[in-house]
Amino acid sequence: MSNAIQSVMHETRVFQPPKALVDTATISGLDAYRTLCKAIDDDFDGFWSKQATEQLEWLKPFTRVLDESDAPFYKWFDDGQLNVSANCLDKHVAAGKGEKTALIFESDDAKVTHVSYAELLTRVCRFANGIKALGYKKGDRAIIYMPMSVEAVVAMQACARLGITHSVVFGGFSAKSLQERIVDVGATLVITADEQVRGGKTIPLKPAVEDAFKMGGCDAVKKTIVYRRTGGKVNWDEARDVWMHDVEANQADTCEPVAVDAEHPLFILYTSGSTGKPKGVQHASAGYLLWALLTVKWTFDAKDSDVYWCTADVGWITGHTYITYGPLAAGLTQVVFEGVPTYPNASRFWEMIDRHKVTTFYTAPTAIRSLVKAADTNPDTHPKHFDLSSLRILGTVGEPINPEAWMWYYKEVGRERCPIVDTWWQTETGGHMITPLPGATPMKPGSCTLPLPGIAAAIVDEAGGDVEQGNGGFLVVKRPWPGMIRNIWGDPERFKSSYFPPELKGYYLAGDGAQRDSDGYFWIMGRIDDVLNVSGHRLGTMEVESALVSHELVAEAAVVGRPDDTTGEAVVAFVVLKGARPEGDEALAIAKTLRDWVGREIGPIAKPKDIRFGDNLPKTRSGKIMRRLLRVVAKGEEVTQDISTLENPAILEQLAKPI
Ligand code: WTA
Repeated sequence: MSNAIQSVMHETRVFQPPKALVDTATISGLDAYRTLCKAIDDDFDGFWSKQATEQLEWLKPFTRVLDESDAPFYKWFDDGQLNVSANCLDKHVAAGKGEKTALIFESDDAKVTHVSYAELLTRVCRFANGIKALGYKKGDRAIIYMPMSVEAVVAMQACARLGITHSVVFGGFSAKSLQERIVDVGATLVITADEQVRGGKTIPLKPAVEDAFKMGGCDAVKKTIVYRRTGGKVNWDEARDVWMHDVEANQADTCEPVAVDAEHPLFILYTSGSTGKPKGVQHASAGYLLWALLTVKWTFDAKDSDVYWCTADVGWITGHTYITYGPLAAGLTQVVFEGVPTYPNASRFWEMIDRHKVTTFYTAPTAIRSLVKAADTNPDTHPKHFDLSSLRILGTVGEPINPEAWMWYYKEVGRERCPIVDTWWQTETGGHMITPLPGATPMKPGSCTLPLPGIAAAIVDEAGGDVEQGNGGFLVVKRPWPGMIRNIWGDPERFKSSYFPPELKGYYLAGDGAQRDSDGYFWIMGRIDDVLNVSGHRLGTMEVESALVSHELVAEAAVVGRPDDTTGEAVVAFVVLKGARPEGDEALAIAKTLRDWVGREIGPIAKPKDIRFGDNLPKTRSGKIMRRLLRVVAKGEEVTQDISTLENPAILEQLAKPI
């Protein structure tokens, strides 16, 4: 890890924010940024009180700002009441913006649908009325397992309108992962689609829901609402299943937004941690929405005339905050895309930016890296063939961006006119935390630069003491912020121990290592726990290990990450079978079986790229697997570390060879 850090910290190029942006930005220039930071420091409660009052519409005003009495279970604005969907939709319609386009949906096969704010509000109301008619109400929990679609946004917003807590499961997760989430969250409603369409292929969704039900524990689910995307064949349980269009049919066009407490859980989103069991990250209503809205305004310098496009899926936090909630609360026009960047070819993103005159483009470094490669092999897909002059601001999220990819994005996509906001944040933080501001912060390729106003990010040692500048340490946040995680669903003890360990003085522990340079810029060094980042998706090594050892052939498995040019990190699995160590074709066949198995247990994103078989795993005399050695071996490097404590040194040689 340390080599990688040093090379990024050696990056000395600095790119100033373009003058045109500085002149018009909400936060204009570094001095304005610093003034805002200081204003918050000077009057923390006053600042947040003013923001919450001005930015949100309340059904019952709050009188308390931050309640720290039960820390780390912080509460924000907790005696106030509001409705999140009313803040995203009704507010704009009431302000005369009903005709403005809210969503520009582009399907996999490039059919485009425009949905205005007034139309979106009507659809949300009709669907919410339909859900209500089925007997659902505030406090219920719904699983949403849907493709990228207008309907997914409608489903999330309709839940928010009724105070139903949603838990979206990414459509790429397996039936098993879905079942675990249905059970853990205690869902009584599942909203899904018949199939999803990506890259010209259809992938079944409803059948996965049926498989999840068959696995048991889902009896609390009374209804499954199905959006008909393709008309593909599905099994039908007359008592339980109902089409989304039938739920909406004959419903009134208006639906009174239900008042919820500020701290009412808006959603629970599962993410990987350092154990085998994903954590249900619980977010509140008011604080989360405020942070989603403010960060859209600050980081993307949102303007009424923008055409904004975030390429994430609503199954991830980025899709929650920067598709379903933030941009709508800000009243933006946004593109919602069903497909993948490489279909029908790798110029799809550039074509779409051109077609929809996108001003603000937000994507993942993995996508950029794969499009760089594609443009090298097929020059026709290079962004230079497209009119990208509408672009104003570029953004990245989810993983570190290497300086080469940053430069390509900056030059070839942004034509050296557009700042890149490299946004560091997490499922748990609700929204951006450390990022350049497009009209204020000089950029260094590979650094997420400076914390947003109000975010007390710092780097500390094991005892919570500040590390000296230039040294690495744990990335923490010293003070609460409105968008922060409120709990782990059903596991408050794990919430406290994972994020607020006692030795760290009550700071929020992000789980990333970081360094600061002489300008105070943050450089993220990667996870300090057993969490991998594959194509910007979080994955626990223990999750993959549990999946592998649940296969009948496997006795033991250890999973590590290896740097990968395209996906950032790749999964490497070291496996000991119950039978003899396989070789040759047999090893290849078993590796394929295990890869498919992991795909079915978790989802295709978790499939190990490389599987190696050993007679054993490298262990200390006390039986502990030495993962740091496996990381070296996975990279194909020579083991130079001290291996004197290793029980079985010869095993390293066996594991060094890919099959
Ligand atoms: C990593 C995604 C470097 C980090 C929003 C974090 C990043 C994890 C960046 C959260 C960035 C996210 N630079 N690393 N700009 N953004 N990460 O919960 O390790 O899916 O802890 O949230 O992604 O992943 P999550």
